[in-house]
Amino acid sequence: MTDLSMPAANGIPLLGLGTYPLSGEECYRAVRMAIDLGLRHIDTAQMYGNEKDVGRAVAESGLPRSAFYMVTKVDPGNLGAARFAASVARSLEELRSVPDLLLIHWPPVEAEFDAALDRLMDEKQKGNAPAIGVSNFSPAMMRRAQARCEGAIVNNQVEFHPLLDQTAILATARELGIAVSAYSPLARGAALKPAPITAIAARLGRPPSEVVLRWILQQGVVAIPMTTKPANARSNINALGFTLAEDDMAAISALGTRQGRTINPGWMAGRWEP
Ligand SMILES: NC(=O)c1ccc[n+]([C@@H]2O[C@H](COP(=O)([O-])OP(=O)(O)OC[C@H]3O[C@@H](n4cnc5c(N)ncnc54)[C@H](OP(=O)(O)O)[C@@H]3O)[C@@H](O)[C@H]2O)c1
Repeated sequence: MTDLSMPAANGIPLLGLGTYPLSGEECYRAVRMAIDLGLRHIDTAQMYGNEKDVGRAVAESGLPRSAFYMVTKVDPGNLGAARFAASVARSLEELRSVPDLLLIHWPPVEAEFDAALDRLMDEKQKGNAPAIGVSNFSPAMMRRAQARCEGAIVNNQVEFHPLLDQTAILATARELGIAVSAYSPLARGAALKPAPITAIAARLGRPPSEVVLRWILQQGVVAIPMTTKPANARSNINALGFTLAEDDMAAISALGTRQGRTINPGWMAGRWEP
């Protein structure tokens, strides 16, 4: 029942459903809705408090678990020796299965950096995740993680949309064999507004959201937009079905700056670069 028509990067289906900040019935309904429309890749995290809602939606979908690609992430507060393994065991319980991909959600502090990656590797070796990766890692952190984990890192999930220049992330990821996933791919709506995007959308007769998502997917980057609305989820799936001309891709890429973050917690100051 796996959707073989969905392109993938390092085995990660290119389009998924984001689930932050959904929880409870709202999360359950959004995931069931997305599944009904054909999405099979669902993104969750310990931090979101909704793994059990995602797990229930998948379990009650009527489709076999093998049809899905589930991603979860270890919370920064669970990276230490005392909590890492127990937190992953709880994730497996709440998800009702082994996630397809287990990420470290935010870069560990320097003193814990290598040890946290070793714990991530341990989970893979124990069979608690067939694939492992990271999130919010800078290019230098990706290099370090890939070396520490002997090439086992398959993914870096980062903020990625036309307003943020992530050229260095993408180049380093390609060099290291790491797939990039775009979180906040619509910049929570801000990426839908710039004139070049609205002009291209008008010319193509598509909503700006489809143009933005297409720009991401066409670079081989995975996108995980969050939506609770069937019309928006359907439209997001449409982004798989057309091609942007190279000059339109370039015009959209030209919008990006290194200051264009939507998500920028103070404690990450100085850690995004190099
Ligand atoms: N790894 C990390 O540190 C990290 C950080 C942030 C987010 N994430 C993940 O990435 C996912 C997506 O990011 P995000 O939720 O921050 O931002 P986003 O996906 O860029 O934006 C979500 C917003 O866009 C709207 N939307 C979705 N599809 C639309 C469409 N076709 N047309 C118009 N509006 C549309 C949604 O509203 P409606 O419900 O009204 O459609 C929602 O308000 C999260 O849910 C989470 O799973 C990961």
